[in-house]
Amino acid sequence: MRRRIVAGNWKMNNNLSDSTTLLEDLKTQDFKDENVEVFVAPSYTNLALAGTLLKDSAIKVAAQNMHQNDGGAFTGEVSATMLKSVDVSTVILGHSERRAYFNETDSLLAEKVNAALKNDMQVIFCFGEELEDRKSEAHFKVVEDQLKNGLFHIEKEVWKNIILAYEPVWAIGTGETASPEQAQEMHAYVRNTIKATYGEEIAADVSILYGGSVKPANASEIFAKPDVDGGLIGGAALDATSFAAIANAF
Ligand code: 13P
Repeated sequence: MRRRIVAGNWKMNNNLSDSTTLLEDLKTQDFKDENVEVFVAPSYTNLALAGTLLKDSAIKVAAQNMHQNDGGAFTGEVSATMLKSVDVSTVILGHSERRAYFNETDSLLAEKVNAALKNDMQVIFCFGEELEDRKSEAHFKVVEDQLKNGLFHIEKEVWKNIILAYEPVWAIGTGETASPEQAQEMHAYVRNTIKATYGEEIAADVSILYGGSVKPANASEIFAKPDVDGGLIGGAALDATSFAAIANAF
């Protein structure tokens, strides 16, 4: 069944003390609809803390990245099994910042997706075009390629562990959000692309989140679109009140 989801990607923000404060603040917020799933994705150093502090809360914890191998000589990396050992079973993969600054290619992402699924993890798979792509009207093709090359090798059975996040790069951290119509248009396109490859049921069931300058002021009109199932939130997730307002914007 398609789920409504709001996930906060904290990116490289919040040290131990900031994270403690934000997590405690989040616990005091009134998340009104228990059918809206809420995730926070702190940095690695704060994942275990988040798990501990949110133990009795409905808010779930996700990681922002992981390595494609289960372990070994990969200095500086973190594996799926390590994440699972701190009760994190959801991971964001393919964020545009990972693609742009850390050279994460579609084929690397395909390996990471496999590693996550093999470890029974849920993946929030991000994709989205750059401004140039949209200006040249290549945005549908770019998105389709990202999905086909990074994700469409998976079996039908594991789609239940996939959440999609459309994040147009030009809308991330810029204050310029995609219009609700632009988001809907791309989400519908993505759903149709999935339908063509995997069939109606999987396409109808997968949750597609929108990310890029979502704020309390614009969340409800974006979430009102039929193919938008929630949001992946950056800046506004760093403030508990804003984040809760977005989660309450359905
Ligand atoms: P902003 O909400 O800050 O634009 O970031 C979006 C994002 O990249 C979430 O992953």
